[in-house]
This record gives sequence, C-alpha cells and structure tokens, in this order.
Amino acid sequence: MDGRDLVRRVRLVGSVRGLRTVRSAWRRRSADARALPARGAERARVPGAATGAEPGPGGGVVRFARSELRIRVSVGGAVFWGWDGVEPLPSYGVVGEPPAPDERAVLEPGKDGGWQVVSERVRVVVSRTGVVELRTPGGVLLRRELPPRWWEPVDGGPVRWVQRSEVPADARFFGLGGRAGGPRLRDGVYGLWNTDPGGRFGPGDDPLYLTMPVQVVVSDAGTHLAFHDNTWAGRVVLREGEEGAGSGHDRPGTSEVRMEGGPLRCWVVAGTPARVLQGWTGLTGAPAVPPSWALGPQHARWGFGSEREVRRVVAGYRERGLPLAVLHLDIDHFDGHRVFTVDRERFPDLPSLAADLRAEGVRLVSIVDPAVKAEPGDAVFDAGRAVGERGAYVRDAQGRVVVGEVWPGPCVYPDFTDPVVREWWGSLYEERLAQGFSGVWHDMNEPVSFAAFGDPSLPRSARHVLEGAGGDHREAHNVYGLAMARAGYEGLLRLRPEERPFLFSRSGWVGMQRYGGTWSGDVSTGWPGLRASLSLVLGLGLCGVPYSGPDVGGFDGFPSPELYLRWFQLGAYLPLFRTHAAIDAGRREPWEFGTEVLQGARAALVERERLGPYFVTLSHLARSTGAPYVRPVWWGAPRDRALRECEDAFLLGDAVLVAPVLEPGARRRAVRLPRGRWYDAESGRAYEGPGQVVLDAPLSRVPVLVRAGAVIPVRGADGSLELEAWAPVAGRSGSGLVVRDPGDGWAAAEVERYVTRWKGDRVVVERDGVKGAVEARVRGLGLG
Ligand code: GLC
Repeated sequence: MDGRDLVRRVRLVGSVRGLRTVRSAWRRRSADARALPARGAERARVPGAATGAEPGPGGGVVRFARSELRIRVSVGGAVFWGWDGVEPLPSYGVVGEPPAPDERAVLEPGKDGGWQVVSERVRVVVSRTGVVELRTPGGVLLRRELPPRWWEPVDGGPVRWVQRSEVPADARFFGLGGRAGGPRLRDGVYGLWNTDPGGRFGPGDDPLYLTMPVQVVVSDAGTHLAFHDNTWAGRVVLREGEEGAGSGHDRPGTSEVRMEGGPLRCWVVAGTPARVLQGWTGLTGAPAVPPSWALGPQHARWGFGSEREVRRVVAGYRERGLPLAVLHLDIDHFDGHRVFTVDRERFPDLPSLAADLRAEGVRLVSIVDPAVKAEPGDAVFDAGRAVGERGAYVRDAQGRVVVGEVWPGPCVYPDFTDPVVREWWGSLYEERLAQGFSGVWHDMNEPVSFAAFGDPSLPRSARHVLEGAGGDHREAHNVYGLAMARAGYEGLLRLRPEERPFLFSRSGWVGMQRYGGTWSGDVSTGWPGLRASLSLVLGLGLCGVPYSGPDVGGFDGFPSPELYLRWFQLGAYLPLFRTHAAIDAGRREPWEFGTEVLQGARAALVERERLGPYFVTLSHLARSTGAPYVRPVWWGAPRDRALRECEDAFLLGDAVLVAPVLEPGARRRAVRLPRGRWYDAESGRAYEGPGQVVLDAPLSRVPVLVRAGAVIPVRGADGSLELEAWAPVAGRSGSGLVVRDPGDGWAAAEVERYVTRWKGDRVVVERDGVKGAVEARVRGLGLG
C-alpha cells in the first residue's frame, strides 16, 4: 500500500464504513491465515531436454525430460500450446468447441534437432530445450517463448510458474484488459487481479477492475495477440526493446508472465489487426450487439434523491432540446442499498416513471450489485440460502458463508461460478423488468468487500464451485464479474427472449463481450483521468470488448467547464456515451457549466445523434468481425511506427478519425494521419497522409477527419437514414459498409456495401450488386 492508497483507505474508513471495514479486513486476513498456510519448500522445474515428438492433428506433442508440450494450429490460424499436456478446455475465455485443428499443419523435424509446424498463417518452431517461437510463414520472428519454469510445493498445492518471452526490438505492447496508463503499455508491472482501486483512479493506478492476460503486440514483423489462458492471480512485467541498443545489437522487448497457479497454456493469433480481432472473437465469442438505444446519449448519477429529481433532469434535457436516450438509477433507488428492491418513499411508482420516460424516448437502466445483504427476512438473501444443496453463497474453507462489507452493510456473495446459482440469479432480473428497467449495469463485482487494509475483496481461501471442478478464490476471483455477466445476460434472455439484453459491467475477463460491455469505473476528475478514459476504451477494444466508455466529466469532484466539455466531446465518439458522478461530486448536466459549454455539449450531442446509424453499423460489424468501434490509429497500418506512438487520437470505424483535446488550454492540436487523403469534417479541407497536421480545436469542437472515398450512414433531419459520401482521390474509388438497424430483437443484420467513384466531374455512389447510383450527400468535392 503506498501513501495515496493509505489516504484513500483512511478516508473510506473514516467517512463511510468505519469500524466495520476494519473488522471485515481482519476476518479476511484471518480466514486466509488459517486456510492458506505460507508456502513451504518448493521444487523448481524446467522442461529439460527434448526426448521425442509425436505428430497429431494440427501439430502434435513434443516430450521433454520433465514436461510435455502440446501444440495445435487451428483452421483460421490460431495457435495453441500447453505445457504439461494441458488442453484448451475447460476455459472461461474460450467458448464452445475450440476451432478444429488445421489438418495440413503437422509437426515435422526442424533445424538443430528441433521441430516445427508450418501453416498458412504462422510457423511454430520448437527447440530441443523448449523454446517456442512464433514466426511468420516467411520465417520472421514475432514472439519467442523461453522455456518456462515451475515451482512445485513439496507438500502439494498450486504450482507457480513463469513464462518469459521476447518480441522484436521495435514492438509495442497493448491490451491486458482495461489499463489506465496506456494505450501503449510502457515498461512496468501490470497486475492480473481485478481490483477496485477504492475511490477513484488515474493513469498511475494498476490493476483496475477488468484485467486480462491478453497482450496485443505490434511490430514491423507483424501483429499478434497472446492469451495466457489462466484465471489465477498473476502479473505481467513488460519491457519494451531497443534497436541498436548495445554495440549496434537490438535488445528485444520482453514480457514475463507470472502466475500463482493454474495451467500454462497459450493461444496466439497473428495477422493484420483486423484478422487478429476476427480470430480472437472467433475463439472467445462474438461481441453482443447492444440495442440501438444504448448507442444514444446516457445520463447517470449516484445520488438521484427521488423520482422528482429524475424527472427534473430528463425535463432539463427536453426543455433545452438536448437528446437523451437512457437514464441510469444507481444504488440510491434501492431500499437500504439492497439489490432488487426499491425505496418506495423516494421512488413510489417506478413502472409509471419508466413508462412516462419511455414515452419520451428515454429508457431506464438499473444498477445491480452482486452482494446481498446478510439479513434473514430479506427476500433475496433467504431465497439464495435455499438454492441447491448448499445455498447460493460463497463459503470459506470451513464451510461457513463468507460475509463481507458493501453498501448495505454486511453482505454475502452469490457464487456465479456455479451454474445453479447463475440460473437463480438470472431469474431475479424479472423484478427489474417488472419495475420497467430496460437494461442493467453491473457494479462492485470484482467482487468488492470494503477493507480498511489489504485486498478489498473476498478471502483468497474462499471456496467456489468453478463449474463443478471446485477451487478457491485465487482461481475464481478474476472471472467473478464475467460469470455474473453470464448469469445476468442469460437471465434477461430467458425472461425477455424477443429483445437483445443490454448489460454492462465494471469487472470482467476474457470473453466479457459475449454478454455486454463495460465502463471505466471511478475515473478521477482531471486531465489525466480524461486521458485514462481513452486508454481504457482502446485497450479493451483490442482485447475483444468493443463497447465501453468513461464517466463523462469524471467520477469525483468538480470538473472545470473546459474539462467537462472536452470530456463530453470525447465521450460523444465512444460507444458508451454516459455522464456519471459520485454522490458528493458536482453536477454533470450539460447546462450546469455556462452557455458556452452548453452550446458545445449540444453540438456534440447533435453530432452523436447524427452519427447514430454509423454507430449501429459499427455495433453489428463488431459482432461479425470482432473489430472494435474505437481503434488505434495504427489499425490499418501497424507498420507505421509514428502511428504506433500516437496515443491521443483514434479511428471510429474505418472512416472517421477523432482527435480529442486532452490538454487544458489547447485550441489547436497536432494530428497524426494514416496514409491517404483525409478531409476535415468541419471545413471539408483535404490533408494528405501519412504525416502530421496541426488543426484548429476551438472550445466548441474537436478535430474530426473523414477518409476520402468513405460512405457513412447518418441520421437525416427527418430521422431517416441518409448516406454521406466523401469524394475519393481522383482516379480512385472508395467504399463504406452500412447495416440498417434491424430493431432490438434478433432479426438478421444485413450488410450493404457502397462504392464511391468519379464519373467525369461527379462522384457517384453505388450499392454493390445493384445497378444505378443511389442518393447520397457528397462532400469533399472541389475542396482540398
Ligand atoms: C461504484 C461505481 C460507481 C457507483 C457507485 C455507487 O463506485 O463504480 O459508478 O456510482 O459505486 O453505486
């Protein structure tokens, strides 16, 4: 615990929970002291020398003196390897049957007595000492995994391991789930333990709520994603390489993955960024498509005191002509902060409130916390005790229900790693639907138990069902939020099968996208928090979770009008566009910061509404291709080193480049352009990439550029879908994909492809496979 941590904890102890958090922390510590004795003597092990190999489908098994390595290249190019003979399943990340082995890829003798598997996309080379290299088909090195090392306790217990790897000297690391200090992950130690930082966080805080052992590595040699499929607590130490480091030799970049237990197995997907994400979501599940209303502007607050206040805020938007699609109710609408209840004094008739808002086009979304107040007589608590043979709640090593401390006071925790518990929990959402809520917001699911000291979560020794395999919290912790999301998603699906569930969750793990999205959590109000907001969204997108966004304005305190507006302008281009703040923070309504801010916020809201059909398109493309809505600027050109260094701009889909303002006082900013022609969306002026341009960024807007030749679906003044096309470069053509909103159910989404071409001195837009030009508003003509 560092000084800042201490201050936070003291504040928490002093102001919110006091003595009870001290007691709960002691309980956790003593439970672990009893059940998890200090590690005794350990034996270290390395694979040793190879003794032979046996080909199998897609690869085979290489035997070593003290381990064996299973390698399998799948159809589509994903590579799996597992030490000590481990298989891809069971896994919380990889769902269904893993992709079939590529029958053409076989283990064959390689150089120096080693072996190799050659496939269309990658070549895997295994040395006699257990070095595993991933190379391009042409033989260029993407990643070298050195022989692992295990530590086995002499008296039994989890086996720790470390896997060191090297990547090219020019490589950059991204990913590892939601990281505040990215998007480029610089030298440092990154924790693999989902953590509520306790209050608010900035770029220096790590780990946060949603970690993943998933690295995306980008170098001149190519892009790859490496997933160490293991849910245990661990950490990753990254060090970027250096070209020409010592006497002209390159020093490779290094990654060291250390785990406190669990299997040593890894998936690698290589190719272009688009192919990597396609392969990755093929492996871990296609992203859920949010209903289209969840792509509209959203407003939340911890501390809406009553139904009246909610109506006042919604009226505030309406009276000022500001669009609003969703309003969120936080824990203060619960009765005594108890989940699945309503405070009937302050919210006497939620279904009517929901219906009234719905008539104005505003949906209600409810927070759902996992912890249940430990109070006999509480309907949820009692029902949970009757679930299955042992009840729904997590127990300690002695078999007693674990009690933690959350908003309602002493609480118990459903064990979402138990299918029976998931089913029960999912059925509770019926009450939320009956209250008129259209979607859910999962929170505190790392899971949190307030603690005056130590880890603010459950004892590591707490027991979990883990789908029948059984295990303790060290293995279950990181997938607690993921499993809760599954429970909620499947519950909503059973209860309301005709609509796509809307769910987003603070914690999660690999595969979170199958059930919904996530958000920043309690990002601190300040310019560093604004930067962290973008870092989180970009990193999560590269890990397969495309729908996320920050608390616009920051969670705590009072943003300056300028900071609020810049945050608002960024948020307007992110998938989840939601203002939110803590109970003791300043207001976040767009009209609270003066007329200039209101005008700027209105412009951002109007533009977001106009781009609605583009967001709908991106949400469906994310499902079918894995490509996140928000992508790093190097997405289409990962070999462009200058783009790899660029962390303050992003691509929204293929067509749009957004350059938010992340610094106070800035009224102009430099923008790094990928190759090709880009039009300033405001002035229509053309710029040629690659290169850097300096653009105006007055307080009223941030620079946005559009790729030449693009076709973007937008909402016209009458609400219908219109096409906006941008002139291609002379002699060239361009294109764009459009998915029309198929509604909030399960109707198939049809992808339409449009092409832009010059015809004489005109630009025509045609739909692929359909004769004749279609109507479109063409921009970028004669400018530039
Ligand atoms: C957590 C959430 C925050 C929420 C608060 C009260 O801090 O991250 O969004 O407002 O709990 O429920």
